[in-house]
Parts: sequence; C-alpha cells; structure tokens
Amino acid sequence: MHILHITDPHLYGNAGGQLRGVATDSSLRHTLADAYAVGTAYSAIVVTGDVVQDDPSGYLRFKSLLGSYATPVLCIPGNHDEPEAMRASLAEPPFAYCGTHQLGTWQIVMLNSYDPGHVGGRLSFAELTRLDTALSVSPLHTLVCLHHHPIAIGSRWLDGIGLANAEDFWRVIDAHPQVRAIAWGHVHQAYDGARNGVKLLGTPSTCAQFLPHSERYALDGSPPAYRRMTLHDTGVIDTQVRWIQPLHARQAAAS
Ligand SMILES: [Fe+2]
Repeated sequence: MHILHITDPHLYGNAGGQLRGVATDSSLRHTLADAYAVGTAYSAIVVTGDVVQDDPSGYLRFKSLLGSYATPVLCIPGNHDEPEAMRASLAEPPFAYCGTHQLGTWQIVMLNSYDPGHVGGRLSFAELTRLDTALSVSPLHTLVCLHHHPIAIGSRWLDGIGLANAEDFWRVIDAHPQVRAIAWGHVHQAYDGARNGVKLLGTPSTCAQFLPHSERYALDGSPPAYRRMTLHDTGVIDTQVRWIQPLHARQAAAS
C-alpha cells in the first residue's frame, strides 16, 4: 500500500501568491504531477498542515487541486491554518479532517497539534486521549501524523517551536508497540530518524524549505518535495523523500 505525504503547501486564495519567493499554487501542482507521473496508485494522500498561508480562501484552491485524484486526502491543521474553516471546507470525501483511518492492515491517526496564538504546537488532553484510545482498541500497525515535530531536529529556532508537550505524546506512544512511524511537517526539511524502533519522518514542504541545522531562521535553496511511503502488511515501511526539479531547470532540460 502506497501513501503520498505532502505538507506545508501554504496556499493563498490568489493563484499568484508567493511564500518566500515560491509561487505556492504552481509549486503544489508540480509536486502532485511528479508524484503521479510514475503511475503509482496511492491508497491515501496525507497532508500534515499549513494547507493555507493565513488565508482560508486557500482551502477552495486546495480542494480544486486535490479533489480530482479520487484518493482519500487526510488532513490536519498547522499553525498557519484556521481549524474551523478548514474543518468546514474539508468536510466531504475525498477529504477528511483529523480522525483515525483504517487502510488495509494499517491505521493512520491524524492528530491536531494546533495551539491558538502560538507558532509551536500542543496536543490537548482530548487529542492525547483520542490517540491512546485508537491505539488501545486496534492492534493494527499504526502511522501517527501531526504538524509539529515531537523531537529536537538540531535547529535551535525550529526546536523552540516544536511540540510543547512532547513528553505527554511519547508517554502514549511508548505504551503501544504497534506504532511503526510518526510523520510531521512544519520543519520544511527532510528528517529521517528512529526512536525505539519507530520511524521518525519529517517531510519537506511543497514550496520553500528551511536550512537544516541552522541556529536561526534561514531559507534553504532546496526545491519542493514530497515523501512516498510503502506500508507493508508486516509492519515494515519503505520511504523516500523526492525533491522536485525546479520548473526553470525542466524547461532548460527540455529545450
Ligand atoms: Fe509551514
């Protein structure tokens, strides 16, 4: 079973809107085109937040871009989202806002780490309880997704705006051995690690990226990217980040 993980598209209501010099609408279009170019049939598209850049009209743009793929689109909010507008906009299939989703021999738990008034994240008691319940009632292999990174990634400014109550999160995760991987957005860079046999997966944005291992805010020149995951019935996950060739480079290569 193949999963497409995209994150932090930062869409505006206007197709020409740019984030740090990247036109987010066309950047997401190119990312999706690349992800589908190889003919992969995805069982779900997972979107880990910052769907819009502080502009809820971007949700309509997101729906028009993703709605044609006839694939479940599982979404959670990031710090730039407006959760109630997002929930209302993405209420109908193929879209789903948060929740827990069974896909074959796996379940995917989509957690809301949005913390009002903060750039960093926090899991409410209700969300932690929902996670614990999902893991208590189902023995299925589990992928857990949230917007904010629950571990330090070695970048001082980003590590100050991660998941504030990460110890509460890990207490729940550590009590359930069927968790196979945790995936997030927010950091606009690739991260591949492991903790107690659980894969830790940070995925770059579909638009602009941050410089890894930077003490303070800095952009990276890396192109847009996405992550593919193959979830096996055995609980094994194969995964790769794929970076998109910039449009100007494609045009140069084609000419
Ligand atoms: Fe973001």
